[in-house]
Amino acid sequence: MRIFIDTANTADIRRAAAMGVVAGVTTNPSLLAKEGVEYKGRVLEIAEVVDGPISAECISMSADDLVAEGRRIAAWHPNVVVKVPMTEAGLNAISRLSAEGIKVNTTLIFSANQALLAALAGATYVSPFIGRLDDAGEDGMEVVRDAVQIFETYHLPCQVLAASIRSPRHVTLAALAGAHVATLPPDVLFQMVKHPLTDLGIQRFLADAAKYTPV
Ligand code: E4P
Repeated sequence: MRIFIDTANTADIRRAAAMGVVAGVTTNPSLLAKEGVEYKGRVLEIAEVVDGPISAECISMSADDLVAEGRRIAAWHPNVVVKVPMTEAGLNAISRLSAEGIKVNTTLIFSANQALLAALAGATYVSPFIGRLDDAGEDGMEVVRDAVQIFETYHLPCQVLAASIRSPRHVTLAALAGAHVATLPPDVLFQMVKHPLTDLGIQRFLADAAKYTPV
């Protein structure tokens, strides 16, 4: 499973990228709003830090407007993946954009059927929103598991990108469910590094290392 970072904050992206484990970046209008910056400029800054897929989201609602916006966003940088919402117009736009070779990440996926439709329309990624499903009393990970199984059964060349991740446990479960990618808020990624026994072990080794002459 590849790890993407789910933020538009360049300091966090630089810190995460320095760990050598980040293969891509996902953004959305809410993440951009937190930064208060211009979308295209920020995506180009991110592209200088991470050499991998960078999802940037369309905000149009009609199919024709989504296609026009998707083409415009895709032209920003070769690594840009266009995010299109899961609607009837979105499916129409996904099929047209992907026919032109533009990579699409279908966002706001909340069921396996939605994932199937997006894959059939030609999406490169589907993003099931695990945390928001869990918040609504459903099992978000079930959508990831089902979508992975459906894509494998029918050899659909679409990747399941586990999104709306809230905890390190979600990451483990997404990996076990066979997600191709998980996009993590920076705090979740940084928490994954830590374990109290690792910290204690380092303290003990350093204390013992002070008792002999280092090489
Ligand atoms: C990423 O592609 C999604 O937009 C993001 O993971 C949504 O996360 P949230 O449910 O925490 O807003």
